[in-house]
Amino acid sequence: MRRRELVRKHLFIGGEWREAKKYQSLRSPYTGETLAEIPVADEEETDEAILAAYEARAVMARMPAHERAAILEKLASLLEIRSDEAARLLALEAAKPVTTGKAEIARTVQTYKFAAEEAKRIHGETIPMDAAPGGEGRIAYTVREPTGVIGAITPFNFPFNLVAHKIGPAIAAGNTIVLKPASQTPLSAYFIAELLQEAGLPAGALNIVPGPGGVVGNRIVEDDRVAMVTFTGSPEVGIGIRNKAGLKRVTLELGSNAALIVDKDVDPDAIVPRCVTGAFSNQGQVCISLQRIYVHEEIYESFVSKFAEAAGKLKQGDPLDPLTDLSALISGRESERALSWIEEAVSGGARVLTGGTIKDGVLGPTVITEAARELKVVCREAFAPIVVIGKVKSVEEAIDQVNDSRYGLQAGIYTKDLNTALFAAEQLRVGGVIINDIPTFRVDHMPYGGVKESGTGREGVKYAVEEMTEMKLVVINKQRL
Ligand code: SIN
Repeated sequence: MRRRELVRKHLFIGGEWREAKKYQSLRSPYTGETLAEIPVADEEETDEAILAAYEARAVMARMPAHERAAILEKLASLLEIRSDEAARLLALEAAKPVTTGKAEIARTVQTYKFAAEEAKRIHGETIPMDAAPGGEGRIAYTVREPTGVIGAITPFNFPFNLVAHKIGPAIAAGNTIVLKPASQTPLSAYFIAELLQEAGLPAGALNIVPGPGGVVGNRIVEDDRVAMVTFTGSPEVGIGIRNKAGLKRVTLELGSNAALIVDKDVDPDAIVPRCVTGAFSNQGQVCISLQRIYVHEEIYESFVSKFAEAAGKLKQGDPLDPLTDLSALISGRESERALSWIEEAVSGGARVLTGGTIKDGVLGPTVITEAARELKVVCREAFAPIVVIGKVKSVEEAIDQVNDSRYGLQAGIYTKDLNTALFAAEQLRVGGVIINDIPTFRVDHMPYGGVKESGTGREGVKYAVEEMTEMKLVVINKQRL
């Protein structure tokens, strides 16, 4: 059953569902059907959300760690119970194939569980003060205090789990949140807000204001009551946020054109299925989607033909069908943009081995070879089911190609040679090197973030908690006790 009753969602401010001044229709990217009416918040409404979060700070800062953990544990179990419903929501609002969506929900449950655990182990350290002349007779220790109001701006590609990577650590650390979810995927954020209310989160600790980045986003970034901004999205927007945020803390998880190196000692049959998943999962709309593959010339031909064959077998279509591998991109505009990049590649002398066309609104898995480095499909983030395979003479050459990028989020290398693997780990300029797997690998407690235009700061629950707390030093002069 696809049809659902049209719902009007409201702003979530101070624990209440408040009517907004303006609404817009939310449509399914795959069918175009209207799913809901969504608020379009203005500056005044955003201001109310910030005020609610600001006023709830003391309640959250006073809440003991075991209570914060209990709320997060309860949220995780409520979400687990309703995981099929949540995955269906992803298929409807994001065109995420439902099987991929189920995997995202399972990860989201994990993320909130990790957050519950981290809430209980936020601690400082003692400092050996007598290590410096003048420090004798003093005892010192650090504590980590909540930062205050966290402004969270989240993308459409993992509407549950990337929201969890902001809300989870923020609650674990005793902060409050103003969340601007992506305009195309607010329903999943509302779903979580309802579960958090049921789990006992105090009013004002989470506030949700969907709306345009230029209005809601700017207000969040520029308001002095917001202590930290955490953003996942495009480098262009991320750089703008950093420029406007003043002295606020800023964590930016931005994009990449993630790359993989395949050494000559690797059996293509053993890795092609995994590489295909890395390139086309969620239609390539993943910051660490496998976009560039550099294969040693000795196995290049074999790898390319097996990869293109496997890609050509992926099933395209309805995201609600459990057999679908690939569905529509988030909007028609994005499909057109991706198509124009493929056309540019062809005009620039590249070869399209498979895909490159849109059928029933779905851009097919596209495999490109012989692409020059200046082409957009190589040097920019595709965020679409496009992968470029290049031939290299050596791992050294491949490393140079991987590093020849404005981005640096994660990179992978398949090799049987430990020295080669360690050499690559040392030389690759990225936030994470994944040896004998694709760069698309992520579990939710590992540090995750990039260098260069891929961002600044780290997520992964423990690391986000560090970024969302302030260190305070306490020094006791024993002689005066
Ligand atoms: C992202 O697109 O940045 C998130 C990738 C993931 O969590 O797997």
